[in-house]
Amino acid sequence: MSASWGSQILRLTEVSKTYATGSLEVAALREVSFTVEAGEYLAIMGPSGSGKSTLMHILGCLDVPTSGVYELAGQDVTGLSEAELAEIRNARIGFVFQQFNLLPTLSAWRNVALPLCYSGTPAAERRERAVAALERVGLGDRIDHRPGELSGGQQQRVAIARALVTDPSLLLADEPTGNLDSASTEDVLRLLDELNDSGRTIALITHEADVAARARRTLRIRDGRLEDLVTSGVGA
Ligand SMILES: Nc1ncnc2c1ncn2[C@@H]1O[C@H](COP(=O)(O)OP(=O)(O)OP(=O)(O)O)[C@@H](O)[C@H]1O
Ligand SMILES: [Mg+2]
Repeated sequence: MSASWGSQILRLTEVSKTYATGSLEVAALREVSFTVEAGEYLAIMGPSGSGKSTLMHILGCLDVPTSGVYELAGQDVTGLSEAELAEIRNARIGFVFQQFNLLPTLSAWRNVALPLCYSGTPAAERRERAVAALERVGLGDRIDHRPGELSGGQQQRVAIARALVTDPSLLLADEPTGNLDSASTEDVLRLLDELNDSGRTIALITHEADVAARARRTLRIRDGRLEDLVTSGVGA
């Protein structure tokens, strides 16, 4: 947690992203502006191809805008080098994807410990923190299981533990329940609720209205444009 970030954790000002593939240019995001306060739970919705994952890649410093300004915790990250972006990602942001993206040959705890390898954490501490993160997501009894020995919902919880192990203030999730049945979806959503209750900022991409309903704000994009940003009374 970083109270020093101030209350505005994300600020986008006329952010555009254009992909050029051969002679075809795709405007994936068009002058998108919005802000997110620390501790918010934001759902991002929109049709397939509307720019949701592109937006998440920019929010997560996996990619940079073609134009416009993106500030993360008050810092303009638009002009940073790849190494500087990687450092910010590792220190501040946790990612959860639809396809859990676990390494199949590694045990649950070794998968969870991976982000700590990049930050130079000593080996004994890596294991300790990985096990603690797995306990946090209710998998303390599965630390030595490989991904193939776990259910889909359990694999996604391992992925969430991996996202949490560096204690990031911002959690970005792209369709985290897209491959899960309704019981596992509920487990994962309850976990995200708890993480938000304990102060983490969450941005979650989803196609499903009942998943989006867990968030207090819903941002809709269509054709790369911000269509709507609604704050509801329900949610966290
Ligand atoms: N790396 C890329 N190179 C070229 N075009 C891309 C690239 N990534 C995305 N696009 C294009 O940008 C647009 C937005 O894609 P994006 O993946 O952000 O959509 P999305 O809203 O996440 O869709 P979905 O719901 O299907 O995941 C699409 O038209 C897509 O074809
Ligand atoms: Mg997508």
